[in-house]
Amino acid sequence: MKIRWLGHAAFILEGSKTVVIDPFLTGNPLSPLKPADVKADVVVVTHGHGDHLGDAVEIARNNDAPIVCIHELSRIIARKGVETVGMNMGGTARVSGVGVTMVHALHSADVEEDDEIISSGTATGVIVELDGVKVYHCGDTDVFLDMQLIGELHKPDVMLVPIGDWYTMGIKGAVKAVELVKPKYAIPMHYNTFPVIEQNPEEFKKAVEETLPTKVAVLKPGEVFEISD
Ligand code: NI
Ligand code: MN
Repeated sequence: MKIRWLGHAAFILEGSKTVVIDPFLTGNPLSPLKPADVKADVVVVTHGHGDHLGDAVEIARNNDAPIVCIHELSRIIARKGVETVGMNMGGTARVSGVGVTMVHALHSADVEEDDEIISSGTATGVIVELDGVKVYHCGDTDVFLDMQLIGELHKPDVMLVPIGDWYTMGIKGAVKAVELVKPKYAIPMHYNTFPVIEQNPEEFKKAVEETLPTKVAVLKPGEVFEISD
């Protein structure tokens, strides 16, 4: 499976299917792709904030792909005439041959449309299983001790970890999160998109690899990390 980072929390997982997670491309200064360039069999959204919901509806529409997300958000998105798969935490949905398990995240969530703020359930993390490889996208979150349970129950191979601080945990929390989940690989995300979330990902890599068996892959926007099952 290939994991391509599009900057911020946006990733494309490419294997026998193509899964797009949190495709915030329009307005994301790091994104090398425009929504029209993106192919997808399944679109997954961790929560309703604009930097995660992003271009999900346009990409889903262009590709005739369903959007998988928490129930309340799925009801909001369904009004736009795209197929949605609503689910909730602890559950695993099988969608077009892809497994999506929803897990807790310690964060808030809403959808802003025009000047209205719409309640969209809570923020989540997701574990996507494709071709036997499990990728845990933490969404936006602080570190929480139950990440240990997520690691024990789901044994993710790869963890996509926010390190930007301000809106999520920073590097110190992110290192602890990797320690709790124990993935084989970790990829930092949700940093350097905007000035308030500027971070040096090499500091995260150094701190993890000095103390834990996990290997950290620091990607440039557009760059691919490849993992076999
Ligand atoms: Ni958020
Ligand atoms: Mn965010």
